[in-house]
Amino acid sequence: MLTAIGNLMAEHRQIESVLNALERLINSSERHGQSITPAQIRDFADFFNEFVDHCHHGKEEELLFSAMLKFGFSSESDPMQCLLAEHTEGRQIVRVLLQIGSAEGPIDTDTQRQFIAYARNYIDLLRSHILKEDRILLPMAIQALPPDVMQAVGDACTDFDAHHIGAAALSGWRDLARRLTQI
Ligand SMILES: [Fe+2]
Repeated sequence: MLTAIGNLMAEHRQIESVLNALERLINSSERHGQSITPAQIRDFADFFNEFVDHCHHGKEEELLFSAMLKFGFSSESDPMQCLLAEHTEGRQIVRVLLQIGSAEGPIDTDTQRQFIAYARNYIDLLRSHILKEDRILLPMAIQALPPDVMQAVGDACTDFDAHHIGAAALSGWRDLARRLTQI
């Protein structure tokens, strides 16, 4: 497996496991009438904001997609247009999740209902988004990008993680993912 694509796909699996954990939390809270705390919401929203958006979507948009644009792809036509629009939609939902999670005390029933509706939208959006990338966009990138360009994208991804995100932050997000997936 090519390094850049292999790493992005491995991150997809990690993101899916956190989405599954969020779904378990929501289902269990609905089934048992339990409250979800702002701290729990903050943990998920921080993971989506920092790891999914800055780290993962950052590498896709700034490194892989931008390389593909030089090899005949267009950000104005599908599948890239659709995927970029979904990144934007995801960011808008995460902003709401962050805002709900910033509450000081316990959240009321209406706010919890609102959180659950936004969280379910996000789970559905990201699951179908990841499926499109895994099945359509990433195979297209493997076909379209010459090996030296793919190697350069892989090196740039490693550099992005090391210098733009940082080893300490990355290991913090991985620890958070591990904790969240124990739910
Ligand atoms: Fe992705």
